[in-house]
Amino acid sequence: MPAVLEEVIPLDNYLAMPETELSERIEAARKELGPRVVILGHHYQRDDVVSHADLTGDSYQLSVMASKAEAEFIVFCGVHFMAESADILGRPTQRVILPDMGAGCSMADMASIDQVEDAWEQLEEIGVLEQKVAPITYMNSSAAIKAFCGRNEGVVCTSSNAIPLFEIYLKNFDKMFFFPDQHLGRNTGAKFGIPLDKIVLWDPHKELGGNTEEQLLGAKLIVWRGHCSVHGRFKDWQVDKIREDHPEMKVLVHPECPHEVVVKSDLDGSTSFIIKTVEESPAGSAWAIGTEVNLVNRLEKRFPDKHIRLLAPDLCMCATMFRIAPQNLAWALENLAVGNVVNEIVVEPETKRWANVALRRMIDLTEKKG
Ligand code: 13P
Ligand code: SF4
Repeated sequence: MPAVLEEVIPLDNYLAMPETELSERIEAARKELGPRVVILGHHYQRDDVVSHADLTGDSYQLSVMASKAEAEFIVFCGVHFMAESADILGRPTQRVILPDMGAGCSMADMASIDQVEDAWEQLEEIGVLEQKVAPITYMNSSAAIKAFCGRNEGVVCTSSNAIPLFEIYLKNFDKMFFFPDQHLGRNTGAKFGIPLDKIVLWDPHKELGGNTEEQLLGAKLIVWRGHCSVHGRFKDWQVDKIREDHPEMKVLVHPECPHEVVVKSDLDGSTSFIIKTVEESPAGSAWAIGTEVNLVNRLEKRFPDKHIRLLAPDLCMCATMFRIAPQNLAWALENLAVGNVVNEIVVEPETKRWANVALRRMIDLTEKKG
């Protein structure tokens, strides 16, 4: 066992290091730690980070990988809610590290547990909860909101399993309350034929979310007023422009895009669905893709025989994902190698217990649906 250092190696030591040195040091620390560490990387991570990942995936796949990981340490190259989910699903002795604590998600920050509990109380007061209402949260939310769903017969979903999970919940409940991404909620609800006027928007800053009692009693789906600032940059006129300028191109988007973009696109799905669709398309095919730019650029490089471009003319980059840089990864791994666990993500036990219920329910139902 390496000696435990009194002092953590400072991040500053890495900031001016040349790229090649950082890459060599990351690999050396990985080698030294061997099977004690597994590095997970989300598809939106930059190339110089994702190239060091042992496993890559979309947010659902990464949560399953975390639940099965044997390693003592999970270094999560992704954002905060993903690392929290890894801590919830991992074994009790496992420790999860997020190389930059600033790697959050602006969408997840749009719903706090206090706001969600307050909204639930308001629904109770006006009699909506006399109907069977299921709270469902997108993976992009705090552990506390996942725990709320766990306690109230609800579930977590991701963009890759929203359809099968909505199908189950629509059959078994009168109504669903979906946090915090209005677009994924609306896009999925609309796929089941729920009319848009039965999909009601809940604004946490307004009484009754800005709705009348009748609207809430009559709604089939209530969606939280949250959105992704990256996917919000994709607009329907961009799809029209692609159709006009490049009629041969297919438009492929993430369901976090606004509804009017998704309805005009050819296909929509999770980051893994986007990758698989491009991988399986024939040489010469052309794709305008509406998702985070690091993933689109990587696809463009991987498939020089296909025509791949970002749907929007401007940069759609997830600035928080981008915060995990090789500097942070080298810093986290070299500290681990000398016995210092930096930036550990620890979810409080009671929250963990109920968030685990909601996450396990998601995994079980997704696996059952096949
Ligand atoms: P995926 O579940 O498709 O990986 O998406 C996660 C995410 O945060 C997209 O913005
Ligand atoms: Fe959050 Fe959007 Fe970044 Fe995904 S792309 S992590 S939803 S801010």
